[in-house]
Amino acid sequence: MEQKQKLLYFFFALFCIGVGLYPLAYLSSGFREQGVLDSKSQKLLMSNAYLAAFYLHISSGALALLTGWSQFLKSWRNKHLRFHRYLGYLYVTSVFISSIAGFIIALFSTGGTIGAVGFGILAVLWFITNLLAVANIKKGKVKEHEKWMIRNYGLTFSAVTLRIYLPILLMIGLDIAQGLQIVAFLCWIPNIMATEAYIQRKYVKSGIQCSTKIKVING
Ligand code: HEM
Repeated sequence: MEQKQKLLYFFFALFCIGVGLYPLAYLSSGFREQGVLDSKSQKLLMSNAYLAAFYLHISSGALALLTGWSQFLKSWRNKHLRFHRYLGYLYVTSVFISSIAGFIIALFSTGGTIGAVGFGILAVLWFITNLLAVANIKKGKVKEHEKWMIRNYGLTFSAVTLRIYLPILLMIGLDIAQGLQIVAFLCWIPNIMATEAYIQRKYVKSGIQCSTKIKVING
């Protein structure tokens, strides 16, 4: 890895860890009056089903963010293939849980219908790209698996981009509902474009064949 790539990777990991640890802030506030929950109605906050989905979403989302970034380190991955696989199971399980719970809480977004549509589409894409990554590795299609994982982690990274854009939108005078309506789309659409450009450069232009197959080793 070149020096510039190392530096980029360092900041990438730093953001993932920083935002991945953010849900811990909810622990310190007695679980309720924190972050976006502050903008919810008392009726919604009384709903155990909503709160269960919310905490399931943020805890499994945090696990996904914290475990995912290290999976892209090629040298480490090749050296610790078994550990990569265990961490991979943890990652995909976290994404499945967090995306389903994320879809449920999206229906009650403080950004209203627009927020619900933006976060809802993101949750569905997050789930599908995860499913395709798993399906491809089960068939032994390593390159296809890698590509779907890059797309999937680009969407996981929406949790980071959201927390960069939202404070800026609030600073220029929007309220939380307006800010969420914008970031419900802004946090993931540029990420999809960036990951597609990266995949194009890494696999297509460099001529790597995507039909590479491995025999999946069990255990
Ligand atoms: C990528 C797919 C994701 C979707 C679709 C999604 C969806 C949502 C939705 C709908 C909300 C509630 C917003 C509202 O009520 O207006 C929310 C809040 C939250 N999400 Fe996610 N999320 C995703 C990823 C993640 C990840 C990876 C994390 C890991 C840290 C995370 C952590 C949180 C936290 C902590 C909140 C509470 C809001 C705050 O205090 O900032 N989310 N998410």
